[in-house]
Amino acid sequence: MLDYIKAEKTNISNNLPAQPMPKSFQKIYTAKVTPGKKLLNNHEQYAKESLTLLNTYIDKKEMAERQKTFNLAVESCIACHELVCPGPIATIRQNIIK
Ligand code: HEC
Repeated sequence: MLDYIKAEKTNISNNLPAQPMPKSFQKIYTAKVTPGKKLLNNHEQYAKESLTLLNTYIDKKEMAERQKTFNLAVESCIACHELVCPGPIATIRQNIIK
């Protein structure tokens, strides 16, 4: 997911179209977590919101809209990570477009 976000940040700055969402992102609903970690009770809801925001971004064509919806999608990654897996937050946050 991080690779995709990084690639899309580059696509936006080069005014290139968004790549389709990788099919593997659907695994967010079913993937097994690292032993010792526990998912949120509302994991599915957070995951769904995040993928919906990514799809909203992917559909946008106009630059200002692309930047805005991309940032909302990246913030939704962070929202879940703050509650469940803070490790990669700093790296994810670097992709917010200022
Ligand atoms: C619904 C909650 C949720 C959302 C939304 C979410 N993640 Fe995660 N993510 C997790 C959990 C839980 C793990 C840890 C899985 C494990 O340890 O098995 C994880 C793991 C990761 C990892 C691997 C961390 C490591 O140390 O290997 C990265 C990177 C990551 N997510 C980035 C993202 C990005 C980028 C997005 C947004 C496109 C995103 N995540 C959206 C819950 C979420």
